[in-house]
Amino acid sequence: MTGVSLVTSYGPQGKNVMAAEWTMQISYKPMLIAVFIHSGSNTLANIKKTKKFGINVASEDQSTLVSIAGGYSRGEIDKLKIRGSFLMLKSKNMVLPMIAGCVVNAECKLTTIKKIGDHNMVVGKVISITHDETKKPLVYHRNRYFKIGKMIEPIRHKVTVDKKTFDQFCLSHQSKFILKCVGVLVQSKNKMLVLDDKYGNSAGIIPFAHARKSMDNKKELENHLINEKLGIMLKEEPKIKRLIMQNKDRSQRINFILFDGILENKSERYTWQSTKDNTLLQALIK
Ligand SMILES: Cc1cc2nc3c(=O)[nH]c(=O)nc-3n(C[C@H](O)[C@H](O)[C@H](O)COP(=O)(O)O)c2cc1C
Repeated sequence: MTGVSLVTSYGPQGKNVMAAEWTMQISYKPMLIAVFIHSGSNTLANIKKTKKFGINVASEDQSTLVSIAGGYSRGEIDKLKIRGSFLMLKSKNMVLPMIAGCVVNAECKLTTIKKIGDHNMVVGKVISITHDETKKPLVYHRNRYFKIGKMIEPIRHKVTVDKKTFDQFCLSHQSKFILKCVGVLVQSKNKMLVLDDKYGNSAGIIPFAHARKSMDNKKELENHLINEKLGIMLKEEPKIKRLIMQNKDRSQRINFILFDGILENKSERYTWQSTKDNTLLQALIK
């Protein structure tokens, strides 16, 4: 499955457009786009000569245009002149034909061209780019065109918690789209080990740490347990719990990496809490 771009060019072969499903952004800074083009293409001949091209990401109402651009070569017909087909935009920085009605229009300056297998990797630096948020991209799959289907949300369980619990997890991290935590579950019958009220900010909830980006989650948790003076041995093979934590009108997506733990020494820092009336503990052990 891919999207499809209309690759435009202006060179010795005249003004031209071809369809290319093998098009993608490959760098943020500088913004680079790569498109993979077969050696016989007139577009490639144009780009080699003028070192510029346009990427026009086709929208879901442009399947006919894509089919024309991909079904004919510039040597066979001047595609851009076919009546009632391509509507043109004025190019912003370069003399290039650009196509109207697309999701994205990007003018690119050639930076690299390299034969790879039976295609040529053509990489361009984006000189100007516009995005029409009202348009949706066309989808291409097994030689057929589709619209983007329904959004799929990976499974996430909703859990309603009290204000204190919500704040303990979320207050300092509210701007995060998904909050990542790593914690330990130490169970004894129907009770779970939680931090005691007298210690730390996270009283009443399982020992956990906010997992920092690129840091080893298990080590992060082990360090946290050492700081909290909790002797808990972590088992291998954690589980992941993906929750939406809610309190009144506030909600936060949280991913928990959860290790099962074995208590190794007694401490005053923890207490045992029944999972019966605690919605969060119930969600974590499920
Ligand atoms: C949906 C679709 C996607 C295509 N994707 C590519 C592609 O990624 N790379 C490529 O070299 N050709 C691709 N083609 C084929 C070219 O668009 C086709 O060879 C075209 O005639 C080349 O035109 P030109 O010779 O005028 O440059 C695709 C065709 C279609 C219909």
